[in-house]
Amino acid sequence: MARLQGKTILITGGSAGQGAVEARLFSAEGAAIVICDIADEPGQRLAVEIEQAGGRARYIHLDVSKRADWEAAAAIVRAEFGRLDVLVNNAGTISRKGLMSIDIESWHRVIEVNLTGPLLGIQALAPLMRDSGGGSIINVSSTAGMTAHYDVAYGASKWGVRGLTKCAAMDLVDWNIRVNSIHPGQIWETTFQRDARPGHWEANWMVTPMGRHGQPEECAQLVLFLASDESSFITGAEIPVDGGLLAAGLMRVRAKLTDEFASGARPPLTQAGAPKADSVTS
Ligand SMILES: NC(=O)c1ccc[n+]([C@@H]2O[C@H](COP(=O)([O-])OP(=O)(O)OC[C@H]3O[C@@H](n4cnc5c(N)ncnc54)[C@H](O)[C@@H]3O)[C@@H](O)[C@H]2O)c1
Repeated sequence: MARLQGKTILITGGSAGQGAVEARLFSAEGAAIVICDIADEPGQRLAVEIEQAGGRARYIHLDVSKRADWEAAAAIVRAEFGRLDVLVNNAGTISRKGLMSIDIESWHRVIEVNLTGPLLGIQALAPLMRDSGGGSIINVSSTAGMTAHYDVAYGASKWGVRGLTKCAAMDLVDWNIRVNSIHPGQIWETTFQRDARPGHWEANWMVTPMGRHGQPEECAQLVLFLASDESSFITGAEIPVDGGLLAAGLMRVRAKLTDEFASGARPPLTQAGAPKADSVTS
């Protein structure tokens, strides 16, 4: 039995990266897929691909930061599919600007897409999910929603997604809607990561206990579980999919540094002369 048989699923940011992998996987598991994005051409192509493989898919242009786009999408889904069981708030953007250098336009854009977008999506679509008997909302945050991040707007937005998830889990439980967040670490190959600055990948491998990046398929498997009825008693949860980065990355780097100091590979430090952690690990 397919794990998502009979469900209709809307995925934002579905044209590329994790969202596109999820669209294919969820279709193979029996769901009808609504792909939403601002990248129209690849989204339309993906919908055709899924239909040609025997599934049901529809592409809708949707900028998650625009309430009118959400309302239009909700009307289309209600008219054409008659129901919605799962909403994956996956679309995201990044500014790569730090605390003291970010301009206010970049700040607003990242917050609008990453944080306001999921709020607008829930407001537009939760009533249809309620009318469908309930369902599951998965908000894609990040490990940046649990630690500091060099991009201040990205970090703040992903922390916000975590808070939004908890509030929505509380408020929507009466409509039989579960709401959870996932927290990917470094995921290859996504447009996101292709643009990262030199050294970013190598640094991430070093602080990720599994010593590698993740694949979009590994995020998709987690979202599949949360979308399916297999996770029926889980709401308000936050689940990392990060190769152990959050749980054990820091202590692993400390253990490696300890070995290096103990073996003499690194010159000893005096307490007073110890550099800050960032220059120790770089
Ligand atoms: N790639 C990683 O390493 C990583 C790590 C942690 C979290 N994430 C999160 O995972 C999610 C998916 O990203 P990805 O890794 O697949 O990257 P990706 O860049 O491949 O895909 C993001 C998609 O979102 C779409 N998008 C951007 N702005 C949009 C908007 N305003 N409205 C609708 N769609 C929009 C893009 O067109 C693109 O198709 C994002 O929320 C991202 O923050 C990614």
